[in-house]
Amino acid sequence: MGGFRFPQDFLWGAATSAFQIEGAAERGETIWDRFCETPGKVLGGHTGRIACDHYHRRRQDLNLMRELGLRSYRFSVSWARVLPQGSGRIHAAGLDFYRRLVDELSEAGIAPLATLYHWDLPLALQDLGGWEDRDTARRFADYAALLFQRLGDRVQHWITLNEPYVAAHLGYRTGDHAPGFRDEGRAVQVAHHLLLAHAWAVRAFRQLATRRAGSRIGISLDLPWIQPATEHPDDLTAADRYDAYHNRWFLDPVFGGRYPAELAEIFRRRHGVPRLETGDLEAFAAAPVDFLGVNYYFRQLVRRPDDPQELFQIVQPDYPGVRFTSMGWEIWPEGLYEQLRRLDREYGHPELILTENGAAFPDQRGADGRVEDPQRVEYLRAHLQAAGRALEAGVRLRGYQVWSLLDNFEWSFGYERRFGLVHVDFDTQKRTPKASALWYRQVIQQGGL
Ligand code: FCB
Repeated sequence: MGGFRFPQDFLWGAATSAFQIEGAAERGETIWDRFCETPGKVLGGHTGRIACDHYHRRRQDLNLMRELGLRSYRFSVSWARVLPQGSGRIHAAGLDFYRRLVDELSEAGIAPLATLYHWDLPLALQDLGGWEDRDTARRFADYAALLFQRLGDRVQHWITLNEPYVAAHLGYRTGDHAPGFRDEGRAVQVAHHLLLAHAWAVRAFRQLATRRAGSRIGISLDLPWIQPATEHPDDLTAADRYDAYHNRWFLDPVFGGRYPAELAEIFRRRHGVPRLETGDLEAFAAAPVDFLGVNYYFRQLVRRPDDPQELFQIVQPDYPGVRFTSMGWEIWPEGLYEQLRRLDREYGHPELILTENGAAFPDQRGADGRVEDPQRVEYLRAHLQAAGRALEAGVRLRGYQVWSLLDNFEWSFGYERRFGLVHVDFDTQKRTPKASALWYRQVIQQGGL
């Protein structure tokens, strides 16, 4: 497997998101600004006020991408930078920022992959009901259409939403993310509105005559590889339920216009959700994607729950030799191979792009100014090998985006978890490519491992 070559036009790249890197200058408030200001929500009381100051350092960061030889770059547009109130008045300077970004990327020969929503809902919309209100989905489709019109001549790959599972369940069930509620029923309803927002944005995209020839649209889902902790039939059932809960709840509507039946029945009994209106499932079915964005980080082991009220229980792996990243996520590259094969098999051989894969480790700049991160190189190499094997097996994998280009604001962990290929000193904003960045540059140059 050492010498596998990826296709010529493979989208080698790295990913970021607006709230995590830009800083808050010149944009409307978002739900994450409020969450950061709420005591106890974010480690160290960190905020997105400055982040990587990318809003002011766009050119410098572009030079970094050039130096790394990236062929593509996945970023997200801050809704509140373009529309400070979420709808209505356009903030021209905000739109201009993204206009310049995509122009400069194109000049550098770096294909932009633009995500429209990476969790930073304009606060003004939260105050009107946020994702619990269907109107938010309508406004999202309008905002999406605006971007298709204004940036569509440059952007070939659009991603509607990033990880609606996380937005809904960490935002509304566990409370670990903004807006920080703890209610499963509300989370399921929010997920429904997110999926509607996706479908309506895809519809708006297809209706637009002026978009760039060959441009495509998809969605990025977080798809952990899920396995039963033992072969016990009850554990198999629990693992299957959890796969329905985390993965198929989003995959099935996106690809087939329906929810997993057994779980839908359970949610309906428990909470009376999701509340659908006529035409919702048809809207899903009428919005096929051109590609699926896959975000893969880890495997999860599942067993039958101790508490019969629960549907499943996640088990911490503790076999000899188990390895974790600083997030406490198990390193399990085989799961990436299995997940890609499974998506290919069960969802009609779709085009796939790995829109996130990467790892946090406690990187430090050495006395010589260098950052050695052999564990990250090892993580990326193993996952690229898995991706290569999936390609060899016939999976239509079109690209790979490392999470992340830069160390950045890692949500409730603040700046305490470093995922970057490039180290950022948050006191001085100095960027230092880590050993993994230099390794990745070589991989791209060689077109493989
Ligand atoms: C994903 C998010 C991304 C980043 C990585 C580590 O769930 O999409 O913003 O936080 O995890």
